[in-house]
Amino acid sequence: MAFERNAQHFGGYVMQRPRLGHISGVPLDQKACDTWEDIWKFQAHPEDVLVAAYPKAGITWMQEIVDMICQEGNNERCRRAPTYDKHPFLEAVAPKPVPSGLQLAENMDPPRILKTHLPVQLLPPSFWDQDCKVIYVARNAKDSMVSYYHFQRMNKGLPDPGDWDTYFSTFLSGNVTWGSWFDHVLGWWDAKDRHQVLYIFYEDMIENTRREIEKVKKFLGKELSEEILEDVYQHTTFHAMSENPMANYSTIPSFVMDHSISPFMRKGIVGDWRNHFTVAQDEIFEKEYGRRMAGTDLTFRTEL
Ligand code: A3P
Repeated sequence: MAFERNAQHFGGYVMQRPRLGHISGVPLDQKACDTWEDIWKFQAHPEDVLVAAYPKAGITWMQEIVDMICQEGNNERCRRAPTYDKHPFLEAVAPKPVPSGLQLAENMDPPRILKTHLPVQLLPPSFWDQDCKVIYVARNAKDSMVSYYHFQRMNKGLPDPGDWDTYFSTFLSGNVTWGSWFDHVLGWWDAKDRHQVLYIFYEDMIENTRREIEKVKKFLGKELSEEILEDVYQHTTFHAMSENPMANYSTIPSFVMDHSISPFMRKGIVGDWRNHFTVAQDEIFEKEYGRRMAGTDLTFRTEL
């Protein structure tokens, strides 16, 4: 069991907040930077499916949907292992001897479901060479910021976010792990016209989950009955995933992820930014948003 393995391997280990390094100007965990050559050389298989997103866009939700579709609605098979073990996280490097994302992927037979938060320009080129299918999830910047703030508070595997006001500036400047939200969502938006990328919005998933599941199924080229699609939906609701230890990250030791500070499955809604942004912060945000998104055809909804 992954939990036992992690608990054992982390036994007695005092978790230090990580340092950030940079790859081509993008802030990444220093441990990922140290092994960057290996990450960059990762060999994808044509049948692999990559799920990509900026942090906190709902990637875990999408992973579970993709897994349920690939397992044809068999939720017992979907509970075979925690999310982080069944879907290797490409650039994840944990303290030894916990296997890295690359090691997990290399020990798994294709077709694999892989996860990444890398901005498009840092994606290992073999994904494009092999013409892999990629599902990218994007979430509006305000809710992403709020969710990422709470996640950095509870997850010692990321830098300490400081207080909300500090974090607001840090996030807008792009000096967070995996870099600027703007660069990320725009880079992948551009890539969808050149590669097999399905670009999905978190807000659309919240608005009509069944419709978005249908899009994913079609993109993956699967034929599934209405009954199975309903099982996919039921298995991946916020409530079902919150109760599922294989999907809710509760199997990670609490000295790494402390759900009493903020649960991984936190709120799962659109518009929580309203409970965090001051009027002045919203003005600063809107100005920066207008500047960064001007001239693009990418739009987001911040409430439904
Ligand atoms: P909140 O912190 O706003 O609640 P990621 O998986 O990319 O880290 O994203 C986590 C965010 O997705 C969290 O947002 C989490 O609650 C939300 N989420 C996870 N599963 C979900 C689901 N089934 N339905 C709705 N939101 C979900």
